[in-house]
Amino acid sequence: MSNTNIRIEQTQQSRLPAVDFDNLVFGKILSDHMLVAEYSNGNWNEVSIVPYGNISISPSMSALHYGQSIFEGVKAYKLNDGRVSIFRPDQNWERFNKSAARLQMPEVPKEIFLDGLKQLLELDQNWVPSKDGASLYIRPFMFATEAALGVHPSDSYKFIIITGPVGAYYSKPISLKVETHYTRAADGGVGFSKNAGNYALALYPTELAHKEGYDQVMWTDARDHKYIEEAGTANLLFRIGDTIITPHGDTILHGVTRRTIIELADKWGLKTEQRKVSVAELIEGIESGAVTEAFAAGTAATITHISKIGYDGKDYELPPVETREFSNKVFQYLNDLRYGKIEDPFGWNFIV
Ligand code: COI
Repeated sequence: MSNTNIRIEQTQQSRLPAVDFDNLVFGKILSDHMLVAEYSNGNWNEVSIVPYGNISISPSMSALHYGQSIFEGVKAYKLNDGRVSIFRPDQNWERFNKSAARLQMPEVPKEIFLDGLKQLLELDQNWVPSKDGASLYIRPFMFATEAALGVHPSDSYKFIIITGPVGAYYSKPISLKVETHYTRAADGGVGFSKNAGNYALALYPTELAHKEGYDQVMWTDARDHKYIEEAGTANLLFRIGDTIITPHGDTILHGVTRRTIIELADKWGLKTEQRKVSVAELIEGIESGAVTEAFAAGTAATITHISKIGYDGKDYELPPVETREFSNKVFQYLNDLRYGKIEDPFGWNFIV
């Protein structure tokens, strides 16, 4: 990769000594520096790494009004030998640019996204936690900055990367309520992309699910509410019989963790299917014992077991977590690989 010309302004006073690495609340602690790139006149012009801090925006900035705003979630780990490694950031870069294209935003070149991220982490490498289960969460995002209230693609954008140490997003298995009224994404929409609006629309139905005692909603298809899509903060995978199955399609986020898990299952010689899973198939499978595992997968969520599923006024309990052979194995394998405890035969660790 070429060495991108990035202006670096270092902080005068690191906030690191004040961080309690034993009590990390997701997304609350941000590292010393951030990368900021500006796009205008058809080009990415200035790229700089500066102390983390507030930015100034116009009240008529178009992202605030018309929602051209996309993001990614990536993680970096401290390897056993002390080096810092980012997990499959090339996949996030590709997905980011697919989100950008769908929202009529400019692509971010590899040299800014990946080389810039590498330089940012070189500077903030001491922020990467070394404790098992902890990592540095990386949030690249881009939004439209043109000060204009007309509805049209913005002529200027900001791309920013912020990072911060995190522990587990979910500290225990989660319960999901099958959502049969509200909709996350429809065919031809933006469900596959990681745009801010996909998360805003989930807040109200999720709050209703919380009030009923569930942790998250399980989204279903917009037309009939018959087929399972995703959990909003993560993709979903099931073990039904001897097959690892995940719902797939353009109404569902194209998850990097999900892809990784399916690739591993394929390599381990297991049967995998990426296809529609109906709510009826899931519920019947839980009742008959054919569904032996259900879990959420995402960068933040990593692999989070599902404890129970609420549907049509009834709760369906999944088998005990300790009996879930595949998801426990894949969780352990990915942890070992990400922390450099085992070989990385796939080249998924991007060393900083
Ligand atoms: C991620 O997994 O990185 C995400 O962006 C999910 C987010 C809702 C925390």
